[in-house]
Amino acid sequence: MSGIKTSLPEILKDTFIKEIIHLKDIDSTNDYTHALALKGYPNGTVVISDKQTRGRGRHQNIWHSPEGNLYMSVLLRPQKMLHNTSSMLTAFTFLGAISCVKMIAELCSLKATLKWPNDIVYQDKKLGGILTETRFTGSDVLFVIIGIGLNINSKLETFPQEITDTATSLIHLLGQKINIEEVMKTLLLKMDYYYNKLISDGLNPILKEWMIHNSTIGRKVRIETVENSYEGVAEGLDDLGRLLIKKSDGTVSAISNGHLFFL
Ligand code: BTN
Repeated sequence: MSGIKTSLPEILKDTFIKEIIHLKDIDSTNDYTHALALKGYPNGTVVISDKQTRGRGRHQNIWHSPEGNLYMSVLLRPQKMLHNTSSMLTAFTFLGAISCVKMIAELCSLKATLKWPNDIVYQDKKLGGILTETRFTGSDVLFVIIGIGLNINSKLETFPQEITDTATSLIHLLGQKINIEEVMKTLLLKMDYYYNKLISDGLNPILKEWMIHNSTIGRKVRIETVENSYEGVAEGLDDLGRLLIKKSDGTVSAISNGHLFFL
């Protein structure tokens, strides 16, 4: 890792963002932010890197992280406000994902959508994902890290072969380069809005917003969790943000995490 620069653009001065640490390269912005959190860095610390050498996705996947895309982690130290770990993870994952969709609409005039639980997609091709990680002491949340990876200026030909059929990027969709600095600022403004909403009004408005922008509900899906596999129609979210799957025998399961495949 080299070339640390810190700043706070004027437009973010009245938000919860305290400091933006801009790195040239790092193994993973989530891991770096985790280390800062343990050192006591405050709520609203943001780490962004031009590239990552060991970017992490969900389920121990590697997140391909060449220069030209967004790799950002946001450190939060929320007061205890949600009943359990899983709804906390859901709340912050949805908050990040909704903010990405709003940013893409504003800067690129594209209607990206949300695939449960953490994907930002365009016509079912993955544009980005959220990796939210939390640390508790007992039942108190010590911190939350929202990690966001978005494919911005990577051309499809440069993607690893295993994702060329399932992923896309903004440059591919728009045919022009996008300024990452603008992406970051607009995204952080959106996150500030939804963060304040979550603090003041709880999970419900976040779930409503996720419903407006999702492309999951109403479709036949299979979800693989660590213990089980569920097949059925994605019916909606419950009030903890768990996905409700109606199976062919008519019973409904509420699922808080897993791999979702469209059937
Ligand atoms: C996924 O869809 O699997 C989540 C991908 C999250 C990738 C981002 S890039 C910035 C942050 N640092 C990481 O190592 N991962 C997240």
